[in-house]
Amino acid sequence: MTAEKIREIVSQMTLEEKASMCSGADFWHTEAVERLGIPATMVSDGPHGLRKQDQEGDHLGVNDSIKAVCFPAGCGTAASFNRELLRQMGEALGEECQAEGVSVILGPAVNIKRSPLCGRNFEYYSEDPFVAGEMAGALIHGVQSKNVGTSIKHFLANNQETRRMSSDSRIDERTLREIYLAAFEGAVKKEKPWTVMCSYNRINGTYAAENHKYLTEVLRDEWGFEGYVMSDWGAVNSRVKDLQAGLDLEMPSSNGSNDKLIVGAVQSGELPEKVLDAAVARILNIVFRYEENRDKSAVFDRDRDHEMARKVAQETIVLLKNEGVLPLSEQGEIAFIGKYAKTPRYQGGGSSHINSHKVTSALDAVEGMVNVTYAQGFDDKEDKTDEKLLAEAVETAKKAKAAVIFAGLPDAFESEGFDRKHMRMPDCQNELIAKVVAVQPNTIVVLHNGSPVEMPWVNDVKGIVEAYLGGQAVGGAVCDILFGRVNPSAKLPETFPLKLEDNPSYLFYIGEGDVVEYREGIFVGYRYYDKKKQEVLFPFGHGLSYTTFAYSNLRTDKDSMKDTDIMEVSVDIKNTGGMAGKEVVQLYVADKESTVIRPVKELKGFEKVELAPGETKTVTFTLDKRAFAYYSANIHDWHVETGAFEIMVGASSADIRLTKEVNVESTVRLPFVYTPDTTMGDVLDDPRAREIVKELLEQDIFGGSAEEKSSAANEAITAEMNEAMARFTPLRGVVSFGSGFTMADVQDIANRLNALEES
Ligand code: BGC
Repeated sequence: MTAEKIREIVSQMTLEEKASMCSGADFWHTEAVERLGIPATMVSDGPHGLRKQDQEGDHLGVNDSIKAVCFPAGCGTAASFNRELLRQMGEALGEECQAEGVSVILGPAVNIKRSPLCGRNFEYYSEDPFVAGEMAGALIHGVQSKNVGTSIKHFLANNQETRRMSSDSRIDERTLREIYLAAFEGAVKKEKPWTVMCSYNRINGTYAAENHKYLTEVLRDEWGFEGYVMSDWGAVNSRVKDLQAGLDLEMPSSNGSNDKLIVGAVQSGELPEKVLDAAVARILNIVFRYEENRDKSAVFDRDRDHEMARKVAQETIVLLKNEGVLPLSEQGEIAFIGKYAKTPRYQGGGSSHINSHKVTSALDAVEGMVNVTYAQGFDDKEDKTDEKLLAEAVETAKKAKAAVIFAGLPDAFESEGFDRKHMRMPDCQNELIAKVVAVQPNTIVVLHNGSPVEMPWVNDVKGIVEAYLGGQAVGGAVCDILFGRVNPSAKLPETFPLKLEDNPSYLFYIGEGDVVEYREGIFVGYRYYDKKKQEVLFPFGHGLSYTTFAYSNLRTDKDSMKDTDIMEVSVDIKNTGGMAGKEVVQLYVADKESTVIRPVKELKGFEKVELAPGETKTVTFTLDKRAFAYYSANIHDWHVETGAFEIMVGASSADIRLTKEVNVESTVRLPFVYTPDTTMGDVLDDPRAREIVKELLEQDIFGGSAEEKSSAANEAITAEMNEAMARFTPLRGVVSFGSGFTMADVQDIANRLNALEES
């Protein structure tokens, strides 16, 4: 519908109708205005399947929803590093929504994994904003290609569940831009989600719902977002203020009480009616975009989508460790141990919980393979060793040629609504693994969890398979990997630290009361572990394959460029093993000399490439200014410091295979204001300034007779010390220690330096 037509409809609406359009009609629907032909539209969770509630609604996954298909959760799909796959999964979800009359699916969820403890990490993608933004963008693209909207969430800085409705995320400007906003920015700019869901929490003191800075200045004015912003369920706290800040739709509804506040505020003149009109127009735009593109022929083919879920799961399973034990032979005598072989944990609890139409376990998937035996090993109702189950498991493992233990985190350990208390697996499962390893040298652990766990047995087992929360078809996909029918190709989108205490947010997570300070700043995930040279359990980007890949011929289309240019980087990848496979080629950029504090390197590109044995393909990346920039809080913009950068290409953040140095020249000069407090060192950074401070340099305090002093009797006074003293002394130092300079003289010099800066 044209903007003009929408304006016309808005102009025919009463004030009350407009206000009511800005909140839900019920838990899942927007309001209808029949006399003007405005239909009600439905929104539903998300993000990895359809949680459509036909009857009683809730936002915690308590009441039943329709039978649907549960795809792997975000923790896993990010590990695929496969944009095309996520696009296909998005198309399947979009088709399901069309068939079920759902206008917007509530996802993807792109919050950064600041700590392994966040209860909702299983829904989120990565510790790295580039990965999160790219994977979310691919999903959005797929869903919206079916004329169904998405709601990228939870905007902004919602990185814990504890006190999620009142916590205040205190984050500095640079960190917000480089880490927490960046994941949203990438997806919003590239794929234009129809809607954005604001989070419950505050950001630097202001609730996300009433945050004009982020909802309007950043999201709309800077990034060009044109859809509507809806609240997370119950996130509205001050309706009129929220509307002015840019929050269009309140969900679910406050039974009309907040609508009345809007009406009153317009009537009293507190709220300009045009603010309300603009919000209504944005909502109607999406309502009609969906309505006019309804696909009446769409079908929700659950069995077809189950196969799609299996295909996605195959690429979300990360092979973490393999000491020659995998793949297993289908003829081998194998013991499947652990409850999750029979009833896999394949999704998380809360608003994303899907009522799966069927679930395939690993045991289902090996039906007919007579050589596979099974023992439950543990129960996950409580963390207590069941001696009988344990003994049976050990016996079963002993008799087989290899044991696969299906372990992980029970629902009680991670979910929406609360955070994990520690990073450990249940003790009873760790004990089971230890006891099985003692009798069975060929032990493999398959993990079902949404976030990293500590692995005290890492050196004792021969294989570790991270299945994440792999969706309803996970059992089939795990067996495809175990038996080598599919070559594993996923990589970790997050670091697995050795222990929780190693995580950079550890000292400050989960805050004091409502105050949560993000004191680790930009050093989230590998940005921290790299800088600290800290040993980790498994690094960001790690994942093994049953074949091997060789990297060669890293080249760029230019060796240096201006920051307004783009640079093409290519590398050849060859499958040097005996099995077809896919490799996630990762490109990191390192600033070799920087005056600001930066991570050692940052991921700026990744491509997944499929190769037959012996085949070589060229992978190409395009880098622009952003790939080299940091966010300068000084100019409130991205900035590149002129100088050398290293392009690093590799198979993980800890496995860089090739590097190449390039130069980037900045076209922007950072403004600098000289004052009497400016240090001499900063002045001399501009060679043109030497002439202006010539007389000051002759003074002792600025090194005038440094040579003499260092050769004098006191050997402790070195030339280095003199030079450092001089560099770190402000210009005004000359008033205290120089011969006859006044503050007026110094101010005059500062003025001349400023004139030079402006010239
Ligand atoms: C969650 C959202 C979800 C909404 C509706 C909230 O509690 O934070 O992610 O979309 O409920 O169920």
